[in-house]
Amino acid sequence: MSGDLRLTSLRRSYGPTAVLAGLDLEVSSGSIMAVLGPSGCGKTTMLKVITGLISQDSGSVALGGRCLDGLPTRKRGIGMVFQHFSLFPHMSVRSNIEFGLRMKGASSSVRRDRTRRMLELMGISELEERRPAALSGGQKQRVAIARALAPEPGVLLLDEPFASVDHETRRRLRKELKKLQKELGTTMVFITHDQEEAFEVGYLTAVMNEGRIEQVGRPRDLYEDPKTPFIQRFVGKANVMNDPSGNGGRIIFRPESVILERMERVTTPSGSVGTFANYIYLGPYIDCTVDLESGETISALIPRSEFMDKGLRRGDRVWVQIKESRPYG
Ligand SMILES: Nc1ncnc2c1ncn2[C@@H]1O[C@H](COP(=O)(O)OP(=O)(O)OP(=O)(O)O)[C@@H](O)[C@H]1O
Ligand SMILES: [Mg+2]
Repeated sequence: MSGDLRLTSLRRSYGPTAVLAGLDLEVSSGSIMAVLGPSGCGKTTMLKVITGLISQDSGSVALGGRCLDGLPTRKRGIGMVFQHFSLFPHMSVRSNIEFGLRMKGASSSVRRDRTRRMLELMGISELEERRPAALSGGQKQRVAIARALAPEPGVLLLDEPFASVDHETRRRLRKELKKLQKELGTTMVFITHDQEEAFEVGYLTAVMNEGRIEQVGRPRDLYEDPKTPFIQRFVGKANVMNDPSGNGGRIIFRPESVILERMERVTTPSGSVGTFANYIYLGPYIDCTVDLESGETISALIPRSEFMDKGLRRGDRVWVQIKESRPYG
């Protein structure tokens, strides 16, 4: 049965370093929570503590109201999909999927029915006799998800499951995962350091930094109402610079809030002055870099047609206006 996952004040250190530093997180039953955080912030360590592969120094893990602390991994009812493919190489796809059911002591008819259903749900029925070595990366991760879900875990933990597959396959797999999650109603925790992926997969995203969850919210909450300086910088792209009004403070603003104009087109300049240093053509938008006279460098995202109208060239003197900014920190 799926249940609420509740992590309370989790702490775990390796030597003097606190990798989990008082981490709290709640994932409600039947929902999918994306966890987004930079490399090394403790995401995998958090999952290992949830599964019982390592133990926490303090704090607790509960699933469906049941405290899991001290229980061995196999008694926790948790499914896990790793970033790196982790199928049993000597077993067929079918035996891989059956494995967890065997461990649970499921009867052969239950094993057969459940395995067939998982093969169908993941769209891999025709692969059931193959060995992992004969599968593509995307197919391997489908099998890994099927294997983890077959014993009907209370929660499924996915640690950057699509990191080793190409962009297109990755997009398809995450759409399928969402659909599957809806159908089965399994509680899921989906780890990624790709913001687009987090926002697509999770209804809610938890942003993690230095061993703690700093904010949980919908994409829009995180983007428009970031609660900490880290989230201001980490979610979406952002520029940080000294407040041009000279009040000694700093401001933060999105690249899409920047207006650029060639100096000779401006009659009464106000705002900052800089040099148009470089740009990257992204298709619908142009990602521009401007070196300000203050010595700071900022980026500006300009819609393609506007960029063409302005006729901006590298080395041009530009006038910079910021439509919307907020105090930083
Ligand atoms: N067994 C270990 N012994 C010592 N330090 C460890 C051990 N496992 C992890 N760490 C350290 O703990 C920190 C967090 O590691 P973790 O693997 O949880 O990060 P992560 O958020 O999953 O990163 P990534 O996105 O790169 O996978 C890192 O600094 C790592 O070096
Ligand atoms: Mg990791």
